[in-house]
Amino acid sequence: MRENEIILKKELAPETYLIKVRAPLIARKAKPGQFVIVRAGEDCERIPLTLIDWDPIEGTITLVFKVVGASTLELGKLNTGDILHDLVGPLGKPAEIKFYGKACVIGRGVAIAAAYERAKHLKEVGNNVTAIISARTSSLLIYKDEFRKVSDRLFIVTDDGSEGTRGYAADLLKNLLSSGEMFDLVYAVGAATLMRTVSEVTKPFKIKTIVSLNSLMIDGTGMCGCCRVTIGGK
Ligand SMILES: Cc1cc2nc3c(=O)[nH]c(=O)nc-3n(C[C@H](O)[C@H](O)[C@H](O)COP(=O)(O)OP(=O)(O)OC[C@H]3O[C@@H](n4cnc5c(N)ncnc54)[C@H](O)[C@@H]3O)c2cc1C
Ligand code: FES
Repeated sequence: MRENEIILKKELAPETYLIKVRAPLIARKAKPGQFVIVRAGEDCERIPLTLIDWDPIEGTITLVFKVVGASTLELGKLNTGDILHDLVGPLGKPAEIKFYGKACVIGRGVAIAAAYERAKHLKEVGNNVTAIISARTSSLLIYKDEFRKVSDRLFIVTDDGSEGTRGYAADLLKNLLSSGEMFDLVYAVGAATLMRTVSEVTKPFKIKTIVSLNSLMIDGTGMCGCCRVTIGGK
């Protein structure tokens, strides 16, 4: 196996791929909540992708991405045996993984994979994990079996009702909280609208809420300031 070689590729949903890549140095240092920057080919942009899984013994990392533009399209064309042009990481501040008590992990679309990473690590340190995974439609739901293994309860929500409850994850969370359920932590990852709505739902209940703001990036190291977001004027 060569460095940066794709050793496994799977299509998880339409235009959504999992790749396992040989990257022993990254696999040895990776921590929950971190990401890598990938360049599929010489003419591609550098794109940030979340570390979904890593195996320091095997020397591999797992990435899950959705084809949305030019660089993810090129990445999606690579197959098992191909080499990523370059790969940098692990980058980003690691997530705080500790015992909170009852945690609710919410993921939508391709970000269900990132939510799985968080649910798995929160479960490992003893949290009771409720998971809510959502997508536009049934065929876009990924990581269902993996979620069943790491969560105490799994809710599936689709916008069109083709699987699980019809509607939106934030509404399901609101119903749980309104019926007396309490969480010590809510973690959400997905589109900005989902993360904002979840934060609005948990605010009156004063629940610690963490979201993954995947803003546009340039260097990915904290130097250029491109990914900085302003919230409430700060
Ligand atoms: C820290 C971090 C982790 C990420 N992890 C993942 C991951 O695990 N899997 C995954 O599929 N994607 C992830 N993303 C988003 C991914 O980096 C972008 O989809 C990718 O850069 C798009 O490149 P492109 O050239 O294919 O598309 P572009 O041509 O650059 O963009 C295509 C469309 O996607 C939108 N877009 C591009 N980047 C983002 C972004 N960061 N947030 C919202 N919309 C965007 C553009 O506005 C445009 O409408 C992550 C982003 C960040 C910042
Ligand atoms: S991309 Fe975050 S500081 Fe440059």
